[in-house]
Amino acid sequence: MSSLEQTLSIIKPDAVERNLQEEIKKYFIENDFLIKDQKKIHISKNEAEEFYKVHQSKPFYGELCNYLSSGPIVVMILEKENAVLENRKLMGATDPAKAEAGTLRKKYGISIDKNSVHGSDSLDNAKIEIDFFFKS
Ligand code: CMP
Repeated sequence: MSSLEQTLSIIKPDAVERNLQEEIKKYFIENDFLIKDQKKIHISKNEAEEFYKVHQSKPFYGELCNYLSSGPIVVMILEKENAVLENRKLMGATDPAKAEAGTLRKKYGISIDKNSVHGSDSLDNAKIEIDFFFKS
């Protein structure tokens, strides 16, 4: 069964730094995602810690939060049928070395940390993550 969903996508600092944001947005549009809202922001370490708090017990949490707050990012609300899963397919595996050909992380990712894009992993988290960046 399919349903129209929204998911949160982040173009991470490594991709913004390499000026890949327009190319990545084009890839989403070509794959029938609607970009419902978007903004370029630079978040603080505290905000990154709040955003990634589900990972706070992980050994990589500190580095992860330093990294997400290290430079500008582009946050987007993407809409499509089954957007959460479709976005995860388009991104590919978390580790670019393991991502399938044609996925964003295979094309642009540098390492498991600098993997160019983030996407919500469930519909519940998508709502939480969209609110985090877009609820005024
Ligand atoms: P993301 O989808 O943004 O969600 C959490 C991030 O943690 C993940 O992408 C990776 O960039 C990062 N990360 C760093 N090390 C690891 C690891 N060992 N396993 C999973 N994610 C990791």
